[in-house]
Amino acid sequence: MSYSLSFPGTIIFGADERRKLAELLPAGPVLFVAGRHSASRIQSEIVPALGGRSFELIADISPEPPLADVERALAAARRIGAASVVGWGGGSAMDTAKSVAALLPLPGPVADYFYNRREIPGHGVFLAEVPTTAGTGAEITPNAVLLDPETGIKQSLRGTGLYADLALVDPELTYDCPPAVTAASGFDALTQAIESFISRKANPVSKTLAMQAAKNILSSLHPAWSGEIQARNFVAEGSMMAAMAFSSSGLGAVHGIGHPLGSILHVPHGVCCAVLLPTILKWNLEAAHDDLEDLALALTQDPDPANLIELITELRSWLELPADFKTYGLAPEHYDFIVRNCRSGSMKCNPRDLSDDDVRRILEELS
Ligand SMILES: [Fe+2]
Repeated sequence: MSYSLSFPGTIIFGADERRKLAELLPAGPVLFVAGRHSASRIQSEIVPALGGRSFELIADISPEPPLADVERALAAARRIGAASVVGWGGGSAMDTAKSVAALLPLPGPVADYFYNRREIPGHGVFLAEVPTTAGTGAEITPNAVLLDPETGIKQSLRGTGLYADLALVDPELTYDCPPAVTAASGFDALTQAIESFISRKANPVSKTLAMQAAKNILSSLHPAWSGEIQARNFVAEGSMMAAMAFSSSGLGAVHGIGHPLGSILHVPHGVCCAVLLPTILKWNLEAAHDDLEDLALALTQDPDPANLIELITELRSWLELPADFKTYGLAPEHYDFIVRNCRSGSMKCNPRDLSDDDVRRILEELS
């Protein structure tokens, strides 16, 4: 089999490593795109080390970044002549930073790239990504999930030009993450690890990373949610490895269905993953039986995949995540939109095909 692997230029993992950020940025102005709660830490810990560099800090990007927020950050980067862009926060801050760094030298509105009317031909300015949640893996991947609120369409800017030059994963930044965010982002990471492991495009390297990621996350997510420090380190490392895995293997139907569902009903991405994962794993049980058996044995010392799915379902309820989309109002009138918009690359990686009617039946089960 043949496969190719691409990662950010440098990946640094470890507690307190964020303090190296300033010395690793190139000379010249810096645009920080930060999560709301990260601005004061950047001001106190990073800005004093910037030396002579000027900077601007944007810390009010909406969740699921809308195109207008990316335009605004892009305008700020152009105004200061940014030589580097730093994304510091959850997926929204990192995906916005990724888009800005890539699009800075390019003409036309963001929408042109979002709707594939123009291509991103290469790398933009220096990009550093610093996650503060353990889950999205956005520091590792070459895509940025954005939302057009006018059409309700949520999809990715994608291309090798979107790889970060530096992914700096400091698990200390996740220590004050609230339990609900830890739960949802952790389930995103667990889903990414498992979907990568059973993907049709999995390769020996992605499988090795995905299995270790799933081990870290399944064993540590509950104690991490309770605030245990060492467990938080394991989940942060697992999240990073899951992203390294799925960036070459692709994902599966949880992500395929989860994206349009999340965008039409405003369900946080990790919650979408938590609701869909057990149902989709049951759907995949026959087609991916051997892989799921390997995974179950490695993760629980019990080779029965049905018991692994049961354990994941229990973990979801321990973390107080929902088991269906009832509270979000999923109803038959939403099915057509979800079916129409779920045919992404993720669906092609799923080990068992789903027809439109199969997707509808799954949605009915969870409504
Ligand atoms: Fe995800």
